[in-house]
Amino acid sequence: MSNASDSWWRNAVIYQVYIRSFADDSGDGIGDIAGLRSRLQYLTYLGVDAIWINPWYPSPLADGGYDVSDYRDIHPGYGTLDEAKQLITEAHHLGLRVILDIVPNHTSDQHAWFQQALAAGPGSSERERYIFREGRGEDGSLPPNDWHAAFGGPTWTRTDDGQWYLHLFAPEQPDLNWDNPEVRAEFESVLRFWFDLGVDGFRIDVAHGMVKDPALPDLGLTEFSVLARKGQENHPHWDRDGIHDIFRNWRAIADSYPDRRVFVAEAHVRPGRLAGYLRPDELHTAFNFDFLKCALEADRLREVIDRSITDLATVGAPATWVLSNHDETRHVTRYGRAYTGVTTPMRDQGHPTDLTLGTRRARAAALLMLALPGGAYIYQGEELGLYEVEDLPEEVLQDPTWERSGHTIRGRDGCRVPLPWTGDTPPFGFSANGAAPWLPQPEDWKSCTAEANQADPTSMLQLYRSALRLRRTKAGMSGEEFRWLDSPDGTLLFERGNGLLCAVNLSDQPVPLPVACRPLQQSGPLGSDGQLPPDTTVWLQRD
Ligand code: GLC
Repeated sequence: MSNASDSWWRNAVIYQVYIRSFADDSGDGIGDIAGLRSRLQYLTYLGVDAIWINPWYPSPLADGGYDVSDYRDIHPGYGTLDEAKQLITEAHHLGLRVILDIVPNHTSDQHAWFQQALAAGPGSSERERYIFREGRGEDGSLPPNDWHAAFGGPTWTRTDDGQWYLHLFAPEQPDLNWDNPEVRAEFESVLRFWFDLGVDGFRIDVAHGMVKDPALPDLGLTEFSVLARKGQENHPHWDRDGIHDIFRNWRAIADSYPDRRVFVAEAHVRPGRLAGYLRPDELHTAFNFDFLKCALEADRLREVIDRSITDLATVGAPATWVLSNHDETRHVTRYGRAYTGVTTPMRDQGHPTDLTLGTRRARAAALLMLALPGGAYIYQGEELGLYEVEDLPEEVLQDPTWERSGHTIRGRDGCRVPLPWTGDTPPFGFSANGAAPWLPQPEDWKSCTAEANQADPTSMLQLYRSALRLRRTKAGMSGEEFRWLDSPDGTLLFERGNGLLCAVNLSDQPVPLPVACRPLQQSGPLGSDGQLPPDTTVWLQRD
């Protein structure tokens, strides 16, 4: 492939497919590969460049598939390896690249390696693939240290023979020992397995957590969660320098394929640390969680945008932009609240919300995101205007957070409700045979099915579609040109290449539009007097 094709990822728009909730062909109420294949045309209609598929490997689903029991196969409920190959081929024919999710920090407790480790007992080489330790206290009945797990409870679980194993997430997700060369070799082989099948890249789960300080020192934490204090320097399990060797090896593997493959990191790190992951011989891109979490306020956004672009420019990497994913409250809901940022990642729920306002702001935010230089991620359903389902009945909740928090934190199911495709009543075409979806959809999603969106020229889907079309066809959008222009308080105004401008009004007053420009695309009606109303974004072309 040409050089241009090698750098497709620098400004790609990547659509996140949460496969369980995308489309169900088999009729069991759970999404699958055949369902995804049947809807690929929709994704080309939308106009994205690639899809990222959340874990589709065999899994007991203790954490929605982020507990993998076999990295080289497909979860039986989702289909077969042959279907996966067909999907990759079909996507490529349609011009869509395919990115998978790799989960290297931990396996499932049902993975053969972990079962072997349990059976082989203390001191065995099988246990060396994970992080087993003796407990503290006279009889070893206290956990080896004071760390807290992400979904609640300690990070340690005791086995029948008295040793403890580490899990930063659920007990069903034992952490691997990345100091063990066997673990490194295994994952390099897994990467090659999927690269050989034609996948274009990987999203790396918990990329900042794989390497631990072997001394496993106490953190002195009294807070509930391991996610706390991840900003601390020399943290024993977040963002340790040792991680970079691993990623340099992975990059060499990706580059060894003629049509180079790519990586995107899920790395929650301190400001300024992300660039370290994106050096030219490491990963290609990383999610921009600072942008996702940022309140929809002009000053704060401007700061995050500036910092993202300039930090990553030091290593020649492009920024990425993202508003929602399968772990966070959908942004239509967040933006309808008094405070529009994410306060507590993964558990930011239950605040009063004005969905009409949230939707207007979500439209403005989408045009902002898609006008910025670099890549962008669309989480399935945001293009339909879906909101967080905050009132799921307790008995259907599946996120491990619900159980592990003693039923105090509902978890992330509300952003994972199956997509509405057609019709006026649930399951809205999610399962062709009308089966009940694995999480119930709200009745009023009839107004945001793909079908309803397609029929309405002012819908969220048509906004995304036409913005993506402009992004593809206007050369000024694809380069790296970006500069701020002066604009009133509470607003953002920037210029891309070839005289393309983006103006965002996040104040509570209409503001004058820049002069000598014509609108190309707006998130809502413009004032008849040439004003940009509050919570509205417009793309403009200089005359
Ligand atoms: C990542 C995933 C999340 C998962 C966790 C543990 O943060 O996005 O869904 O629960 O890793 O694998």
